[in-house]
Amino acid sequence: MKKNCSSYIITIDGPAGAGKSTIAKALSKKLGFIYIDTGAMYRALTLKVLMEGVDPKDHEDVGKVSKSSEMKIDYDEDGMNIFLDGENVKSKIRAQEVTENPSAVSAVEAVRNKMMSIQRRTAKKFKTTVFEGRDMGSVVFPGADLKIYLDAGVEERARRRWKELKAKGQSAEKSKVIRSIEKRDKYDRSRKVAPLTVPQDAVIIDTTGKSILEVTEEIISLVNK
Ligand code: DC
Repeated sequence: MKKNCSSYIITIDGPAGAGKSTIAKALSKKLGFIYIDTGAMYRALTLKVLMEGVDPKDHEDVGKVSKSSEMKIDYDEDGMNIFLDGENVKSKIRAQEVTENPSAVSAVEAVRNKMMSIQRRTAKKFKTTVFEGRDMGSVVFPGADLKIYLDAGVEERARRRWKELKAKGQSAEKSKVIRSIEKRDKYDRSRKVAPLTVPQDAVIIDTTGKSILEVTEEIISLVNK
């Protein structure tokens, strides 16, 4: 990265549980960049779809909900806030019911187009950014300054998810967590619009057995190249 550069986009893509959020947060903190969790945007819309009683698999109705929604991203000392129709839904979007449904909602083309324009506007506004998602390097920012694809074995990803649930006081069988992760991966990889894929020119990092610090340092060394 050039000294005093005014704009720099890092994209971090990969499957669920690969460590994207943890790494993207640590990285943006170290670099003084803005962190944008794009999964939160799909979760927010999923929340509204569920609250309105719309079937997440009904593309036309989901598209209508998307069109009539106003989404805003904002920041405070605790990080990113996401507002849907004026309400901060940061906590609500982590509910289990929401976690199980965004794959269907995020497969709708009208939804992805709307999210893409918000994401591109956000990049212009904040200038130095870390965008985390599934299609950041492949579709939204194909010209990003640095593209990372984080991966880890399914067992490791399920173990992380299971630990997260346990920490929240929610019990879950490990085999069920594995099945749920495999189902989400399959859906995200096989959808027609913007499927999860390794972006061209992306650096692939397998986070299995690596610490947050190790992976963050590895990415920073690429930024400083
Ligand atoms: O990363 P996450 O679990 O919060 O993502 C929630 C859902 O949104 C997940 O099913 C994948 C989808 N998603 C997407 O399709 N594109 C993105 N850029 C980010 C997330």
